[in-house]
Amino acid sequence: MGLFRGVRPLLAAFLRPLSASAPARSLALVYERHGEPARVLQLKDQERAELGHFGVHVKMLAAPVNPADINMIQGTYALLPDLPAVGGNEGVGQVVEIGSHVTSLKPGDWVIPIDAPVGTWRTDAVLSEGSLLKIPRNIPLLCAATLSVNPCTAYRMLADFETLEPGDSIIQNAANSGVGQAVIQIAAALGIKTINVIRDRPNLQELVHRLTSLGADHVVTEEMLRKPEMNDLFKKVPKPRLALNCVGGRSTTDMLRHIQQKGTMVTYGGMAKQPVTVPVSAFIFKDVKLHGFWMTQWKKNQTQNKDRLTGMILNLCDLIHKGQLTAPVCTEVPLKDYQIALEASMRPFTSSKQILVM
Ligand SMILES: NC(=O)c1ccc[n+]([C@@H]2O[C@H](COP(=O)([O-])OP(=O)(O)OC[C@H]3O[C@@H](n4cnc5c(N)ncnc54)[C@H](OP(=O)(O)O)[C@@H]3O)[C@@H](O)[C@H]2O)c1
Repeated sequence: MGLFRGVRPLLAAFLRPLSASAPARSLALVYERHGEPARVLQLKDQERAELGHFGVHVKMLAAPVNPADINMIQGTYALLPDLPAVGGNEGVGQVVEIGSHVTSLKPGDWVIPIDAPVGTWRTDAVLSEGSLLKIPRNIPLLCAATLSVNPCTAYRMLADFETLEPGDSIIQNAANSGVGQAVIQIAAALGIKTINVIRDRPNLQELVHRLTSLGADHVVTEEMLRKPEMNDLFKKVPKPRLALNCVGGRSTTDMLRHIQQKGTMVTYGGMAKQPVTVPVSAFIFKDVKLHGFWMTQWKKNQTQNKDRLTGMILNLCDLIHKGQLTAPVCTEVPLKDYQIALEASMRPFTSSKQILVM
């Protein structure tokens, strides 16, 4: 009798549905104050939030370390979470369980977050239905994990500022960044020529080859951009209608010198942490237009109607299916080894997106 009394709870636990018996815990990279990520982030075993009627329990599969995540932890980003917070704003997860009032998602679906800050560097999260977007499950995991920020940014910048036709050209700096690699591939799929500026490095030819194999038409270093030989390049390709600036400082000024009459420059990053200096002649004699772009704001603007967002994601997935858009070069790092991923993501010339795998 005594034996059976001990076995019964065990049996009951075994017979309960898996979702209900799973411990409501989550391993998460948490920061309680802003500072250098390697110092302030801690891997913590946390209690998971209650599912409630409207919650979606998501098991995170993979999440990248992006520059904005680092800036958010440092406290220098335009958008900061309440503390303590979980790091990371992008990634892909699988739905495990849904609240009784959730209608658009079901267990097994792959989802990506729409909102920021969200906290994707954790094994499990309970998020609201409205903050998630379902994506097709038949794209590679690394494409899914890196889909919602960089390819979307590249897509919007190519679509929203100039009406580009096949044969037109664009110029971009930090062309080996995640955004840059997406720009190269989406532009190539549209027949738009790309002039890609990168920093010089010991293994330059290897990187040039890698970008060319993605579809880059021309790859030049920041130093080459200042040389008269650039005029030879513009005998083969039209001057760019659009410049995409991720760097700031001298790189940007030099890029602007090559832009077409009435062309547009879109600034979306400031990796050099230097202001954008515009030559007076670019304003007076070329009448250039200068814009900024922030994907987070664009997504916020779609909250009432998600059709444009869903349409863009489906278009990007279509490019992925056709083999025209791949994930950036990635290094997969187990969540527990996050210090390695943080260090690599902040080192110059890494040229590989660090992906935390859960
Ligand atoms: N506005 C938006 O909505 C939006 C969306 C996505 C990304 N972003 C921004 O875009 C930038 C790139 O993001 P990502 O995820 O694509 O980055 P990533 O893949 O980590 O690449 C970082 C890039 O920055 C370059 N870089 C770093 N320091 C530099 C410096 N001092 N001078 C010149 N280049 C430098 C790196 O080149 P090396 O190989 O030479 O180190 C690399 O090309 C970040 O600033 C990010 O915040 C903005």
